[in-house]
Amino acid sequence: MTHARPLRSTTTGAIRGSIRVPGDKSISHRSLMLGAIAVGETVIHGLLEGEDVLHTAAAMRLLGAEAERSDDGQGGSVWRVRGVGLGALQEPAQVLDMGNSGTAARLLMGLVAGHPISCVFTGDASLNKRPMARVTNPLEEMGARFVSRSGGRLPLTVVGSGELVPITYRLPVASAQVKSAILLAGLNTAGATTVIEAEPTRDHTELMLRHFGATVTTERLEDGALAVTVTGQPELTGRSIHVPADPSSAAFPAVAALLRPGSELLLNDVGMNPRRTGLYDTLVEMGGSIAFENRRDQAGEPVADLRVRHSALKGIVVPADRAPSMIDEYPVLAAAAACAEGTTVMLGLKELRVKESDRLAMVAEGLTRCGVSVEVGADDSLTVHGTGKPPKGGATVLTAMDHRIAMSFLVLGMATEQPVSVDDGAFIDTSFPDFVGLMNGLGAAIVEA
Ligand code: S3P
Repeated sequence: MTHARPLRSTTTGAIRGSIRVPGDKSISHRSLMLGAIAVGETVIHGLLEGEDVLHTAAAMRLLGAEAERSDDGQGGSVWRVRGVGLGALQEPAQVLDMGNSGTAARLLMGLVAGHPISCVFTGDASLNKRPMARVTNPLEEMGARFVSRSGGRLPLTVVGSGELVPITYRLPVASAQVKSAILLAGLNTAGATTVIEAEPTRDHTELMLRHFGATVTTERLEDGALAVTVTGQPELTGRSIHVPADPSSAAFPAVAALLRPGSELLLNDVGMNPRRTGLYDTLVEMGGSIAFENRRDQAGEPVADLRVRHSALKGIVVPADRAPSMIDEYPVLAAAAACAEGTTVMLGLKELRVKESDRLAMVAEGLTRCGVSVEVGADDSLTVHGTGKPPKGGATVLTAMDHRIAMSFLVLGMATEQPVSVDDGAFIDTSFPDFVGLMNGLGAAIVEA
């Protein structure tokens, strides 16, 4: 891995401009994976070229697909994926290194489980700590075999099968990664594979499977849960995909603009899938001025241009059932809450403990260092006491190999009395290449520390 890259963020003036943040990470991973098992060519515009997604591209090549990048002549890129066809992934001659990416690891484990090949998965020190049993348990029920480190952790070996049996599986945790792994394993499985989710998690896999030609149906059950069913062995055909800007990345400049007086920022082409937009609902409830302009559909996903203006934010209670739709955005919401007037309570954050870092602990620790009063509840809630005045700052915050912790505290540093430093900003490249250049272009002052 790269050397640590300490960064420091100093209080800034207004945040102004019109930008497009990089492509959606969830959609980018899925585009490469489905392109690799479709027949023919998939052309992807606006793919996120962050390290996480580049790990997926490398893995798909090791599994036999072609994935090539070219310039689109307008400063962007086009990726062309030539798929091998469903069921035809080849056994990789090398270990599949998924870097920092839980999405890449878990979704691919599902996809290869339905192939008669063996694959060894590994990742960096952060990924190799994260729980994988949530994926391997249902995939074992379908007939795949796994040998993992203790606690179901990477590195692990998947022994896949071309003869998996379909299952109906009720998710024990609200996780799109687990749902997607099972649906992807169900693709090369005869019959109908069903995942039942009590809480709606992001549905990019379902939308994209349909886009490639698979049949995916949903049924509302008596208890309110949703049953999602994929019919096995579909004909998947290469497609054209336009990846929207990532709402999870747009969150950082959006919060920066809300916090800094005089700001007006236009964020173009932002994905507005309702299962992803919980942060924006929350910021509007806090008093944030966010206008959703030019709402439209882009290749099956809703998008809009977001106009964000400086606003005085107030504390609110964020209900637990909103967590799946803003699961990656709590760290930056906590930064906003630290600058708001009044107390913000965020409920139902248990899953934050198993992200790239224990985000609940890292956010609480970082805010405390910056002079913000916070409490972590025994029920995995986070309470942030804002005073409406700039927090003190003047601290170095630990990031534990977590891109979103790093970006969130750099945003906080734009609004604190004294600068905020992060011990390592290198992992920002996993999801948001050139975050620093883009933010500084809008008026931020983030420098190497
Ligand atoms: C993702 C699902 C979420 C999210 C992650 C991306 C996906 O994880 O945190 O960044 O692309 O499916 P979980 O499914 O583990 O909640």
